[in-house]
Amino acid sequence: MAVRLGIARLGGRYPALLALLAQLAATLSIGVLIVLAAQFSAWRPAWLAAGLAQGLLAASLGQWLGLSRSWWWLNLAFVPALLLSSGASLPSWVFLGAFLLILLLNWNSIGERVPLYLSGARCRRELTALLSRQAAEFRFVDLGCGPAGSLLQLARQFPRAQFVGVETAPLSFAIAWLRCLAQDNCRIRYESLWRTDLAGFDVAYCFLSPAPMAALWEKARGQMAAGAWLISNSFEVPGVPADELIELHDWRRSRLLLWRIAD
Ligand SMILES: C[S@@+](CC[C@H](N)C(=O)[O-])C[C@H]1O[C@@H](n2cnc3c(N)ncnc32)[C@H](O)[C@@H]1O
Repeated sequence: MAVRLGIARLGGRYPALLALLAQLAATLSIGVLIVLAAQFSAWRPAWLAAGLAQGLLAASLGQWLGLSRSWWWLNLAFVPALLLSSGASLPSWVFLGAFLLILLLNWNSIGERVPLYLSGARCRRELTALLSRQAAEFRFVDLGCGPAGSLLQLARQFPRAQFVGVETAPLSFAIAWLRCLAQDNCRIRYESLWRTDLAGFDVAYCFLSPAPMAALWEKARGQMAAGAWLISNSFEVPGVPADELIELHDWRRSRLLLWRIAD
């Protein structure tokens, strides 16, 4: 259990590394099975069937270790796609395109050490419960909103409040911007969270990584009004205990941490 938690923490910071580990473990397991089967029987699986079994195992392992749903699909399809493309001699632009797609979604993995993973349904439920305590016309910012699934759902639930998402991964920004076009109380900005003025917001929400939390706390403390909230999904501010902790009851023991800005 402790090893699994350690690996899951690593995955929180570096999901691509965890996906790679799941791929390697699944390839090794399926490879050993095939070699053993070849030693002791006449059974020889087709390459694609072996690839699919590897993909299924890698996806399940990744999920067990806490990777998000988008990684499930990537882990499932990776080796079967490689096998298919080696037989079908796909043009190189397909690989370039896939690489660009991943890069444009995970732009901030490199500089900011914050990859894309999404707040889940339990987190959104608990956020809704927390926001119900605010006056009806509160202002909320999602610092690194990704494709804005959570932001948009909250904006629909609180039609009198104002929601802003800031994002710098180009593809996530474009998806978020398009999705929120028709939602009057929700706006998306192509802007770094470090350039966002937090002064006008009652609630700042983030789901980032351990790396930026200390600096973000200093920024929130310096800019937000007394009584405003900083809410972090999963990641603590080093040395600053949260005023409220809400367990999300998933096996990763994720939680929402809420700090009230003092006078
Ligand atoms: C873990 S995802 C969370 C997405 C969304 N907030 C959610 O909870 O579902 C973190 C997002 O923050 C974005 N991000 C990281 N650093 C950023 C920065 N300096 N400015 C704006 N967005 C940033 C990433 O591109 C990524 O989309």
